[in-house]
Amino acid sequence: MNLAEMPKFPLAQLPTPLMPARNLSAALGGPEILIKRDDLTGLALGGNKTRKLEYLIADAQAQGATHVITMGAVQSNHCRQTAAAARLAGLNCVLVMNASSDDPDIQGNLLLDHILGADTRVITDKTKRKETALHVAEELKEQGYVPYQIPGGGSNAIGAASYVAATYELMTQIIEQGASPSRLYTTSSASGGTHAGLALGAKLAGVPYAVHGVSIEGPADELKSIITPLANDTAEYLGLDIRLDESDVIIHDQYTGPAYGVATEECLQAIRMCARTEALLLDPVYTAKTMSGMIDHIRTGEIGSDETVVFLHTGGAPAVFADTDSIIPAMQGSGIQEKP
Ligand SMILES: Cc1ncc(COP(=O)(O)O)c(C=O)c1O
Repeated sequence: MNLAEMPKFPLAQLPTPLMPARNLSAALGGPEILIKRDDLTGLALGGNKTRKLEYLIADAQAQGATHVITMGAVQSNHCRQTAAAARLAGLNCVLVMNASSDDPDIQGNLLLDHILGADTRVITDKTKRKETALHVAEELKEQGYVPYQIPGGGSNAIGAASYVAATYELMTQIIEQGASPSRLYTTSSASGGTHAGLALGAKLAGVPYAVHGVSIEGPADELKSIITPLANDTAEYLGLDIRLDESDVIIHDQYTGPAYGVATEECLQAIRMCARTEALLLDPVYTAKTMSGMIDHIRTGEIGSDETVVFLHTGGAPAVFADTDSIIPAMQGSGIQEKP
């Protein structure tokens, strides 16, 4: 399937801005930092999944779907954006979500799922998500409906292709702004579609930057073994003859902390610093951990003060409302007079 010909159900406000973060650069003593604002994709508080869902929802429609089913953690931004996308497309949405209890606080993304009227199925065993989703699909089929399964994170070749397209959008902005970034920082997750699409896009478009992923769950080797084949499935789906190997996928795994979703001290400081320099809201699960990696690379001199870097803001801020116990203590002080 040619990228330009992929059917798209319009959901996102594109292009998202590419904005200089001058106050943050100054606070860190350089380099020039550009933020690619995919938190502003515009669908029910935005985020990276909106790009993927444009293609995935179009595919669901092409297959005559009545329902979309997807899965994630209870604070999944992907589930929230899927619930919103389904509404716009006139589809029903079932979300299979794992939580630590079967009666989680209805806050953050889960609150938005409720407002959007998704059918939420909360389970406590994450390993049973796929099985539960398949079971829901069987039930729906028996009732005469047509379910369409969207993988966790929207991360298959169709979803990841959206970040190949996003690479061309970003390159257009880089050229227009006369910028020459040496690195692009993004979140690397175990679903991996965003990093896979960006890594493939980078190789395809011959970009000036290297894509640096920061792991928010799991060791670099594990993530590379997911992201590299996904990038290659995407290349195959798009009819491209290029392929990636694991050396094309750069992942830093020292900023993950104890586990997925557990805020680190450095990520809380990144939330504080970005809010108080740029009024930029990061989340403790994805973007703040990624930012903590980029900040560390700046502070340790791995990124030179004369370089330009792009930070991909993939969204996720609704999750701050679900982790106030970690966040509130780290935000003490007015921040008006203090140095960031
Ligand atoms: C805010 C945010 N950033 C990054 C990611 C990771 O994206 P991907 O699943 O494409 O790796 C997610 C996934 O849910 C997310 O919600």
